[in-house]
Amino acid sequence: EKGGYATFMEKEIHDQPHAVGDTLLGRTDSDGRLVLDDMSITEDQLKDVDRIIIVACGTAAYAGMVAKYAIEHWTRIPVEVSLAHEFRYSDPIASERTLVVSISQSGETMDTLMAVKHARELGALTLSICNTHGSTIPRESDAVLYTHAGPEIAVASTKAFLAQITACYVLGLYLAQLRGGTFADDAQSVMKELHEIPAKLEELLGRMDRVKEIARFMADTRSVLFLGRNVGYPVAMEGALKLKELAYIHAEGFAAGELKHGPIALIDAGQPVFIVVPGPGTPHELHKKVVSNIQEIRARGARTIVVAEDGDEDVVPFADEVIRVPATSPLLAPLLTVVPLQVFALHLSTAKGLDVDQPRNLAKSVTVE
Ligand code: M6R
Repeated sequence: EKGGYATFMEKEIHDQPHAVGDTLLGRTDSDGRLVLDDMSITEDQLKDVDRIIIVACGTAAYAGMVAKYAIEHWTRIPVEVSLAHEFRYSDPIASERTLVVSISQSGETMDTLMAVKHARELGALTLSICNTHGSTIPRESDAVLYTHAGPEIAVASTKAFLAQITACYVLGLYLAQLRGGTFADDAQSVMKELHEIPAKLEELLGRMDRVKEIARFMADTRSVLFLGRNVGYPVAMEGALKLKELAYIHAEGFAAGELKHGPIALIDAGQPVFIVVPGPGTPHELHKKVVSNIQEIRARGARTIVVAEDGDEDVVPFADEVIRVPATSPLLAPLLTVVPLQVFALHLSTAKGLDVDQPRNLAKSVTVE
């Protein structure tokens, strides 16, 4: 059942092209309009939404953070991302015009369930993005958008993360189309680009040999930092979480712009730092800004492991290692850039002789608050 792989996690990393492709299946009707699953929320209610709050935990919350950038850009609806346990006990503000989107692979995470129940008590509309049919969170929600990643067995989430981002994007594009803003006409071209992601993932998964080698060399490393900006920021945090969970290494993800506000003090000779570089076409010159961040930390002795798009030569002078990912539009990049970070954590854990699928102290679904 591991499909010839040594661990479930490795299999699930390789399932990712399907997880994305299957989550997109059947989402467009013959008129090119997007469709969602069980909806007891009406189109009129959705047109009226003036705020979105995403509630989730762990990796699912990072998927929500990625989605915030995209949904706000496409719909101009303000999106907040709240850790479910923080949302529940913070006296949150919500109304019937608030759409609370929960994201959960298992559909059984107690923290997320309690947040959803509380959102309903406050009168908000609740929509669940979930990977498990018939689980509790979708049953407690007004609407569901299922991810089709297939069962995820390894404790560390991988393919569910990609499927969650994909589903959030479908939701964002659906809302953009429904509400007819300036972006509505572009929704179909983004969908087309999303459909190209599975093939790009296949290609990327075929290029992971160097990442495995880097992981093997780093078996004794005690701390790894991850930097990103914009959608690359939650990817950096997800890379750090994977490493904590799987390899029991101290790891932290930072927004690259935050470096000079403190974290750069951590950089000394030999400190490994992964940098998730936005594609050269990213607005606001973010690419250039991240390249100069790499330059700054390299000058202080960091060992820079750079995740960059094919053809991005600007990073080369400051990179100890360059890990290449296929090019895509800036908002879709996390579906690719996270993969080397997952593979890195997997192989570092293996190099340390640890149990990849069942890390210590963790459960696959956290059913207590
Ligand atoms: O089943 P859920 O998506 O609700 O789980 C949420 C988190 O517990 C989960 O993503 C956790 O952070 C993973 N172990 C991360 O790899």
